[in-house]
Amino acid sequence: MNITIERADCTEFETPLLAVKIFEGDDPLVGPLAKLDERIGGQISDLRRRGDFRGKEDESLVLYPASGALGAERLLLVGLGKREELDPERLRRAAGTAVKEAVRLRVRRLSTIMHHAELIDERITLPDAARAVAEGAVLGSYAFTEMKSPAEPDEERVEVTDFVILEKVEEKAGRIEEAAHVGGAVARGENLARTLGNLPGNVATPTYLAESAQRIAREHGLVCTVLGREELKREGLEALLAVSRGSDQEPRLIILEHRGGAEGEKPLVLLGKGLTFDSGGISIKPSAGMEEMKFDMCGGAATLGAMQSIAELGVKANVIGIVPSSENLISGSAVKPGDIIGSHLGKTIEVVNTDAEGRLILADALSYLRRFEPAAVVDAATLTGACVIALGNHASAVMGNDDSLIEELREAGQRAGERVWPLPMLPEYKEQLRSDYADIKNSAGRPAGAITAGWFLREFVGDFPWAHLDIAGTAYGDGKLSYQVKGATGVPTRLFVEWVLARSS
Ligand code: BES
Ligand code: MN
Ligand code: ZN
Repeated sequence: MNITIERADCTEFETPLLAVKIFEGDDPLVGPLAKLDERIGGQISDLRRRGDFRGKEDESLVLYPASGALGAERLLLVGLGKREELDPERLRRAAGTAVKEAVRLRVRRLSTIMHHAELIDERITLPDAARAVAEGAVLGSYAFTEMKSPAEPDEERVEVTDFVILEKVEEKAGRIEEAAHVGGAVARGENLARTLGNLPGNVATPTYLAESAQRIAREHGLVCTVLGREELKREGLEALLAVSRGSDQEPRLIILEHRGGAEGEKPLVLLGKGLTFDSGGISIKPSAGMEEMKFDMCGGAATLGAMQSIAELGVKANVIGIVPSSENLISGSAVKPGDIIGSHLGKTIEVVNTDAEGRLILADALSYLRRFEPAAVVDAATLTGACVIALGNHASAVMGNDDSLIEELREAGQRAGERVWPLPMLPEYKEQLRSDYADIKNSAGRPAGAITAGWFLREFVGDFPWAHLDIAGTAYGDGKLSYQVKGATGVPTRLFVEWVLARSS
């Protein structure tokens, strides 16, 4: 999707579809909305008076202006909810709604206005609004079609190729353009993460993820390093190797480097779980819903997506993305409950449950990444079912060893519309990981399962600020938000990029 800014008047501009956003309640129509309303004989105010269009969030309605009344062939009203509740997320959703309507109407070209005078007050700046609108539009245009046969021409999904923001004032147009460029890049990274997440386990193998990382590096100017089985053995990533032992697919450790900061400046590190299919191993999962475990690499997918966005934006910071990748399967050589394995750090681990594999591959990556002397590390992983029980699908859990980093992530998540909520890392929880036979065991049972998983990771973290995001409840879903579809959400790509941008500004 191309996002462009046109210096044109919205009543005159020729477009198959013009989308305008309207608040709930009886806010008077002002500015361009009042002008549009007048040109179509007061239809908008009439609809509002009758209560046929209330302006509620996600509400939308298409109007067909009399011929010649407007440059636009169709006028789409999109509800924004209450004025006093306006935030970037509402605009992201409104843009998603508009793009989905355009797809339904089989319209390839969609125009809109920023309504700066009416919408934007001290609650939200013009650049924040423009960025959110661009994100919502690009995210809303996403569809996962890679694995379907082409449809009949008349049933084929129409793609919205052009998204045009109309702004007459030059200075404003410039600021909108800059912010929309950021939003577009962030959303394209998130859409990439969605596709990697949605691809099935037989396609998106560790080798495939590594090849995708190499392609991203080639196309966007990143440095990519991939460790295969032999290198992993040489480097001693024994926990990652143990998890992959039951699989015919070779494991990978994927490293993407963006060198946008000064030489010698400590890097920010993003780390993502890249478990391409989690059967549970010998501690096998129930078959109902097991197909969803192709999404167990969504943390890794978001890491790759965020690295693409960061490179595209030329962020002025050194950023490293790391993805340990493996399958968790079953064979005569698979790791068994009770096995005691080594790790990159040297700690011995009693594997009491082979389904607690994510923490094993992340532990090795956390230990390995010390060599980069990170300024801070944030990992994202579909790590525990317990997290889904604790927070459901509306927020990811955040834990870590540094309160100010956790606060930074909370704020970045709020701005990005990918919220995180802290769980308490009380030292007492760590006791549950004591093993009778090894240095630590990999599962501490059901109580506080998300926190004990966090504590397991923490035992492998070096001397740097670190935070862990459990995205088990947010990485994929039914696609309830207007800018989502069923399947991988791309979470936390936007949060990752937002955090890096905040750190580098
Ligand atoms: N990938 C799963 C966690 C998960 C569960 C993600 C549901 C998304 C939805 C992880 O590897 C896992 O199996 N965790 C176990 C840990 C337990 C054995 C300590 C879990 O949560 O049951
Ligand atoms: Mn598992
Ligand atoms: Zn898993």
